[in-house]
Amino acid sequence: MPLHPFLSRTKLYKPLKKLLKPINNVYRYVDFVEFISINNGKGKLNDYYNKKATYKNRMQLHEMLLSELHDKPINYIEFGVAAGEMIKKWSSTNSIKESRFLGFDSFEGLPERWEEKQQGHFNQQGEFPDIKDDRVSFVKGWFQDTVYGALQNFDFDNRSIYHLDADLFSSTLYVLFQIEPKLKKNDILIFDEFSSFNHEFKALEIFKSCINSKWNFEFIGAVNNYRQVAFVLK
Ligand SMILES: C[S@@+](CC[C@H](N)C(=O)[O-])C[C@H]1O[C@@H](n2cnc3c(N)ncnc32)[C@H](O)[C@@H]1O
Repeated sequence: MPLHPFLSRTKLYKPLKKLLKPINNVYRYVDFVEFISINNGKGKLNDYYNKKATYKNRMQLHEMLLSELHDKPINYIEFGVAAGEMIKKWSSTNSIKESRFLGFDSFEGLPERWEEKQQGHFNQQGEFPDIKDDRVSFVKGWFQDTVYGALQNFDFDNRSIYHLDADLFSSTLYVLFQIEPKLKKNDILIFDEFSSFNHEFKALEIFKSCINSKWNFEFIGAVNNYRQVAFVLK
């Protein structure tokens, strides 16, 4: 006789669920530590362990990628734009006429609480960043309502750089499955909050476990103790 008839009838599953939830988090933490251990000393840029990690160091990773991509036709596709600091950086550094820069955001902030940030954090009052460049476009709304349709009409011939910067597990996992049919060899994925192990890291791990080893996520580099991480698809 299995245990579940007893647990469901007595409602004992309720305290057990509460008790066991932290174990999930500990498992994901250890999974992340394994990732650190595997990639330690690897990559074109890797500052682990950096006692002076600071968010502005994320530019080092983007600049390293841009040093190779500034003169190539690219698609820079960003999920989570906020005030547009990164899409501005990519579009102003890459001046190739054929490049495209596409940003998705609600422009109303996070749909859920993430770490210490409340729901609605990053709210831009529905306004797009002001970027005077015809190659740049934005799609406003929840990814769950917008991404599928917008990607159907987008030209993926250029090498694509995906910047996954939505912070949340739910948003990141949703986006990964939406971009999956569009992924090509040598496309690059950048995660902005990868060490948030119950969010972006967990989303990538689950995604990888579902795609039947279709892609190898080759580590390119990381800054801020794996806060920002880039991979190339092989
Ligand atoms: C950390 S901010 C982006 C920062 C920006 N990439 C930068 O480099 O400055 C995260 C953004 O993700 C957006 N976001 C998260 N989940 C979303 C979802 N499901 N749909 C639409 N926007 C979402 C939030 O509105 C927020 O502006």
